[in-house]
Amino acid sequence: MAKPSVSFACQSCGAVHAKWSGKCDACGGWNTIVEEAARIPAGGGARKITRGRPFALEDLKTSEDAPPRRPTGIAEFDRVCGGGLVPGSALLIGGDPGVGKSTLILQALAAYANKGGNAVYISGEEAMGQVRLRASRMGLSGAPVSLGAATCVEDILATLESAPPPGILAIDSIQTIWTGALDAAPGTVAQVRTASFDLVRYAKASGAAVLLVGHVTKDGQIAGPKAVEHLVDAVLYFEGERGHHFRVLRSVKNRFGATDEIGVFEMTGQGLAEVANPSALFLGDRTGDAPGAAVFAGIEGTRPVLVEIQALVAPAGYGTPRRAVVGWDSGRLAMILAVLEARAGLQIGAHDVYLNVAGGLKVAEPAADLAAAAALISSFTNQPLPRDCVLFGEFSLSGDVRPAPQAELRLKEAAKLGFSTAAVPVGTVGAPEGLAMRQIGDVAHLVGFAASAGSGAPRARRAGRAE
Ligand code: TYD
Ligand code: MG
Repeated sequence: MAKPSVSFACQSCGAVHAKWSGKCDACGGWNTIVEEAARIPAGGGARKITRGRPFALEDLKTSEDAPPRRPTGIAEFDRVCGGGLVPGSALLIGGDPGVGKSTLILQALAAYANKGGNAVYISGEEAMGQVRLRASRMGLSGAPVSLGAATCVEDILATLESAPPPGILAIDSIQTIWTGALDAAPGTVAQVRTASFDLVRYAKASGAAVLLVGHVTKDGQIAGPKAVEHLVDAVLYFEGERGHHFRVLRSVKNRFGATDEIGVFEMTGQGLAEVANPSALFLGDRTGDAPGAAVFAGIEGTRPVLVEIQALVAPAGYGTPRRAVVGWDSGRLAMILAVLEARAGLQIGAHDVYLNVAGGLKVAEPAADLAAAAALISSFTNQPLPRDCVLFGEFSLSGDVRPAPQAELRLKEAAKLGFSTAAVPVGTVGAPEGLAMRQIGDVAHLVGFAASAGSGAPRARRAGRAE
């Protein structure tokens, strides 16, 4: 049977359907399915294969050494990549429009070029003049980065193939890149997927490390991202709350390094500044002894990060009580509230509850349960927690506190930043000198701890800001 020459792809999730319909079965999106022409094969016709050609199978042993990585010189970026870019690899950087992807890429390329590397920046969104203006504002005009403005992938590849392959090639952004082999409009799933595939193939063939920039659409997915994520070797997301100047680069897939690694940046007038000590930054703005604030000793990737969790529990005006969460999972909040009510008898159900992770960080660890619960209890009872205390531990539905991984690292970071007490799950060991541990067995125990801690709590020295 001949292959159909048209297909229907969902622009939101990338799922391919045989027929058009108003709703995508895969992601539930309405009006997201668009007809797309199939690729016209190079050379005019598909290779007809009647019988396969055998190829030799080999064993896993390798005689080649891994090629050295290419660090850009921006330490936070390199760490998230697993210690620099891998030659011949492709990396996708996703993020909301305006979060600072182009700024980050330009800085990384400039740093790489300044060390003598061959860096090429292809801008599909901004004109050369705009990129130059940005570079001069960030003081990077002198960096020997090769700049081009193009959107056609064939043009880009022809340009690159006429010179030695660059060490790092950046494409900003994949949504603007199109291939002449397809009829579909730029930015559609088919175009993004095909153009990205060609660029990934170029990376593998030439040994260049390719950075692809992709915008996240309002559904939280890069347009055609699911079509690209499996093609590339690493996927990084650049996140940041509007109104906050922190930006977090997070690795969600990495064939050559750890995932869930983060790099922290601060957006300044001269581009992005690296933040080597994020805990100090996230805790830098702490004020007074207000009830409802608890410091969570978290782990992001391989790094400990201390962050303040703030809660406000107030009597509901009328109707259904409000629940609002920023930086944490709302399902998790519902669970904690249920545990507090069922296992500790806190009549919190009829109250409005607001929970916020300070500094615009998003916390995904279950170990944040204890700190979130402590913040809620503190706000509900109107008793501040001691300033010099960090918390971590996960709740089970029975109200017990479960141990959290990498406790020692969390405790060390807390001690380093001047905290003197840690409320931890039972059985936690490894507190450094000067840090007292309070082992919390269950939720009732936590309520008792919060009540006793509130009165006459010792003052902690304020965590300083990183410079
Ligand atoms: P940009 O890198 O263009 O975002 P993206 O490529 O992800 O769409 O960043 C744009 C934002 O960054 C813009 O709102 C202005 C801000 N910005 C600064 O605050 N300082 C700077 O030096 C630069 C270059 C940008
Ligand atoms: Mg941009």
